[in-house]
Amino acid sequence: IRVAVLYGGRSGEHEVSLQSAASVIRYLDKEKYEIIPIGIDKTGRWHLSGPEVLASTTKALPIYRNMPEVVMPSNPDALSTGVVALASGASTPTTFNGKFDVVFPVMHGTFSEDGTIQGLLELADVPYVGCGVLASAVGMDKDIAKRVMRDAGLQVVPWVTVRNGEWARNPSALEARIAKELGFPCFVKPANAGSSVGVHKVKTADALAAAINDALRYDTKILVEKAISVREIELSVLENIQLSEEPLVSVVGEVTPTHEFYSYEAKYLDENGAALHIPALLTPTQMKTAQDIARCVFTALECEGLARVDLFLDKESGEFYVNEINTLPGFTSISMYPKLWEASGISYADLLSKLVDLALA
Ligand code: ADP
Ligand code: DAL
Ligand code: MG
Repeated sequence: IRVAVLYGGRSGEHEVSLQSAASVIRYLDKEKYEIIPIGIDKTGRWHLSGPEVLASTTKALPIYRNMPEVVMPSNPDALSTGVVALASGASTPTTFNGKFDVVFPVMHGTFSEDGTIQGLLELADVPYVGCGVLASAVGMDKDIAKRVMRDAGLQVVPWVTVRNGEWARNPSALEARIAKELGFPCFVKPANAGSSVGVHKVKTADALAAAINDALRYDTKILVEKAISVREIELSVLENIQLSEEPLVSVVGEVTPTHEFYSYEAKYLDENGAALHIPALLTPTQMKTAQDIARCVFTALECEGLARVDLFLDKESGEFYVNEINTLPGFTSISMYPKLWEASGISYADLLSKLVDLALA
């Protein structure tokens, strides 16, 4: 089975993907799979990587820009070739002659996890790992995802949506509304981003505008949320290969950041930025509640393949809130998604095989 692994991407989480893909490529079963690594640079150009990448033992995969721009995919018909040529922006694309059976997009964030790549692969008629177009797009947009989750009867933290035009027209009206409806501290975040890129904790009214302006650098729509005092609870969900069965939910994990919140720095730059607790210190009832919520989120958002569901446990009320879903969660061998499966009895390598099998099922 030939597996094309896509990595990098036109995303604020490009570097995170290089790390996820380094692990995925290292641990994919080489006896079962022939791996074709394809790096996507920050401008969105696709590069077929050479065998160096397969042998790489670095923490983050390199993208070899001297390699030919690749035009996939397995069905070398006009539609698929044309679609991917457009996507890569290549004016005179070289055609990738090899065939492959399945794509594993090991990328996070925009143009990676948001339904765009998934749509491209649908058009090209290539099976791929993970959620389809709809779940990817909905899961990526925190504003829409929260509305769908709220509609499914799940608790989400109160928020105000701010669009760039509205903010440009009348910032003081929005500031007043936020102060009245949410108060301080509050969190400001881009609707479509991840890894805490563009996320700010705002403690006072006079710091609000700067945070909104910064978050608007990453997206045209942002969320302002009431800040709650939280324990951060994460669960891994995996589609059941028996499609008639409920999705599988892992044991419950907890992240305890040593920073003011679980920022980009705490996640990736500071080695001691956060402690992972697997399993989380919760009562059996709390565990069951968290697992039920995670399953409900996966189903409500029409997910397939995999997703990590992140909850907040309010330290004051003891209530769970759904924070967000990540349809292509961080995937290094020490990331929460695979770690939770390992603790639930599925090794990293087996998890990768299961995901590829699900894509081909
Ligand atoms: P991302 O998709 O970038 O991970 P999140 O919405 O998960 O964005 O926010 C990143 C982090 O910011 C969270 O893990 C948490 O530490 C903190 N945070 C975000 N929103 C809130 C909130 N409403 N209350 C408390 N902490 C929050
Ligand atoms: N968006 C990052 C990769 C995560 O949630 O794990
Ligand atoms: Mg998050």
